[in-house]
Amino acid sequence: MSLILGLESSCDETAAALVTDDRRILAHRVAGQEAEHRPYGGVVPEIAARAHVDRLAPIVEGVLADAGVTLADVDAIAATAGPGLIGGVMVGLVTGKALAHAAGKPLIAVNHLEGHALSPRLVDPDLRFPYLLLLVSGGHCQLLLVRGVDDYRRLATTIDDAAGEAFDKTAKLLGLGYPGGPAVERLAADGDPHAVPLPRPLVGSAEPHFSFAGLKSAVARAVASGAHRPADVAASFQQAVVDCLIDRSRIALAACPEATSFVVAGGVAANGAIRAALTGLAAAFEKSFVAPPLWLCTDNGAMIAWAGVERFAAGLSDPLDTAARPRWPL
Ligand code: KG4
Ligand code: ZN
Repeated sequence: MSLILGLESSCDETAAALVTDDRRILAHRVAGQEAEHRPYGGVVPEIAARAHVDRLAPIVEGVLADAGVTLADVDAIAATAGPGLIGGVMVGLVTGKALAHAAGKPLIAVNHLEGHALSPRLVDPDLRFPYLLLLVSGGHCQLLLVRGVDDYRRLATTIDDAAGEAFDKTAKLLGLGYPGGPAVERLAADGDPHAVPLPRPLVGSAEPHFSFAGLKSAVARAVASGAHRPADVAASFQQAVVDCLIDRSRIALAACPEATSFVVAGGVAANGAIRAALTGLAAAFEKSFVAPPLWLCTDNGAMIAWAGVERFAAGLSDPLDTAARPRWPL
């Protein structure tokens, strides 16, 4: 049995978790920073980094206490080493290095995207490689063929904004504040998804890439016109994102017949309309559909600990001079 401590601090969640290789989550804690960033309508990197400095040590002590273990019981320490906001990534990575050095344990430098990509395997023991992953978060929108640990083929990415970014910007335009995705989803529930004509960028193109900048501009024009109910704008925007994700994923699924399953991960996967549409698409391709529970979709320490479990099992660890990488494609 192996036990891994995972640390996450790449954006605006400070998180830690203890996870075993037999998929038991012994403890996990997440502290968000909504209150700190809300006045600015988005994540302020310097404020985020300082908040991680204040919170990470108590959270690590907290998960060790929750699980009733000490660092001596841990087999390795996994920390997000990128991609993300550099200040926050450095806080988590340096903390991981210090703990690893002090306790004489290996350090595992985890790519945050690999954390999202492998997280469905933490909760689904039957999910086998290779699988097609739609990774949709605030910073990323990608289609990846996950062939194994450390083995990814990127089929598509966004040529401008990420899907979560589009949700956050739409929320800001509608005066819904931050964080935007859940607020847009709530408002959309009262709206007509066909009321406001909005573009579906890149839909129909042969390569499965994404683009959301034009959609965002169209939402801005629709809001400025004053001609539409905010709920209709939210619902129409959400429908446009659904249509883009489905069309692009359909192309990727057709290109990857070897995929055992269709998997979604990342914060935007918390969206009910998006999950429902993706479920239908997977069924049409006769693939099983796997989506982690909502708490595992948004940033958390358990996904980093689990990526650590998988990398540790593969014999992978990293030197203590490993550098934080603000940009780090899978
Ligand atoms: O994966 P995540 O927690 O952080 C990143 O690595 O980016 O994703 C956060 C993103 C934000 O853009 C947030 O607005 C979006 O996920 N999000 C949602 C929902 N919940 C979170 N977007 C749409 N609907 C939701 N229910
Ligand atoms: Zn994330």
